[in-house]
Amino acid sequence: MLLEKIHLINFKNYELLEMTFGNGLNCILGNNGSGKTNLLDAIYCLAFTKSYFGLTDTQNIRHSESFLVVNGSFKKEYHLDNDDLDTNLVEFQTDFQTENIAFGVREGKKTIKSSVNNYQKPSQHIGLYPVVMLTPYDTDLVREGSEERRKFLDGIISQISNEYLQNLLKYNHLLKERNITLKRFAEKNTFDAILLESFDERLLEKGKLIFEERKRFLSIFLPIFQEFYQILSENNEIVSLDYQTQYIQNNQEDFTVFFKKNLQKDRLLMRTSTGIHKDDLEFLLEKRSLRKFGSQGQQKTYVIALKLAAFATIKQEKNICPLLLLDDIFDKLDAKRMQKLLQIVSCAPFGQVFLTDANPERTKALLKEIKQETKQENEISTFILEKII
Ligand SMILES: Nc1ncnc2c1ncn2[C@@H]1O[C@H](COP(=O)(O)OP(=O)(O)OP(=O)(O)O)[C@@H](O)[C@H]1O
Ligand SMILES: [Mg+2]
Repeated sequence: MLLEKIHLINFKNYELLEMTFGNGLNCILGNNGSGKTNLLDAIYCLAFTKSYFGLTDTQNIRHSESFLVVNGSFKKEYHLDNDDLDTNLVEFQTDFQTENIAFGVREGKKTIKSSVNNYQKPSQHIGLYPVVMLTPYDTDLVREGSEERRKFLDGIISQISNEYLQNLLKYNHLLKERNITLKRFAEKNTFDAILLESFDERLLEKGKLIFEERKRFLSIFLPIFQEFYQILSENNEIVSLDYQTQYIQNNQEDFTVFFKKNLQKDRLLMRTSTGIHKDDLEFLLEKRSLRKFGSQGQQKTYVIALKLAAFATIKQEKNICPLLLLDDIFDKLDAKRMQKLLQIVSCAPFGQVFLTDANPERTKALLKEIKQETKQENEISTFILEKII
């Protein structure tokens, strides 16, 4: 999959921008505040229909304007089924199709339109144009609470399976309703077991499906992640990640029994204390907590390896090459790791990559070095952004 062109109107600092990208590594260079991160965020919006940075839809609109539009022109590959072909003539056939995606926000409402699909709801769009984004804020994954790590996990799996995303949306909706009900019971000093059970049944059903999918995904993801960490660090540090879930912790006991046992606690707390919304990932370096014992560079390398593994897992599971958006990734990395990272992402399997740097000379020097060392497989395009005053 390729993003050939982007057209922005009133997206953050951009009043109007039209850009045509290259097929391989796109280096977006420019001073602080020139709009590099915003450009990547616009690409992210085309995939996820929201900003990577948790902004509301309206906050993405250029100050003093009333609407925004992000248009993307994608080129997608379609492999035709062998059954559709005369196998005596051709072994396989690939077809390319241009698909236009338009993301817009006006009067607080967002829209996502596609030239090839009719969506009943925006969530149906997720996963059709997969992206993986890496920014300097992502070390929050290591330092912050479990919600960040669940979001990371869900962001990948939702792009692989839209069914997973729909289950998750339903689960979150039911959870919210159950918590409101528990609060109402406490406030009014009442209790209705039948009403609560109707939530519990559906919550448990969706929760189990989500747990199974997270477990399945992590078993595929872990070895890929470990391999990327090894390549980036070029040493024998052993990394791992541990899926922490009440589903596994209670394997002696049926999870449903455990869930029901907590009813009194839930009533007191006025919220649901058990379920997949409590899941976490423990990041480990040499079997110890990465958050407590990892250096800043090791934490950063760990997060980069997580993102590269996310890219590779989506590609493997969906047979679509996601766009890789790398924002300002070189800080805190030593020269060797910087070079290694650039070498990895400028190889053909990584497809189209967007990389930003506020230090153009650094990126240019690194590109020159890797060009000399390796046979460059991917096309490199460079764009210099000027700050518009
Ligand atoms: N809604 C908005 N309307 C107008 N301008 C905005 C809006 N949101 C952000 N900006 C401005 O966009 C500019 C570019 O921001 P961006 O984060 O893309 O810069 P950058 O090139 O990534 O800089 P850095 O190298 O510091 O990371 C900033 O000056 C920022 O204040
Ligand atoms: Mg930036």
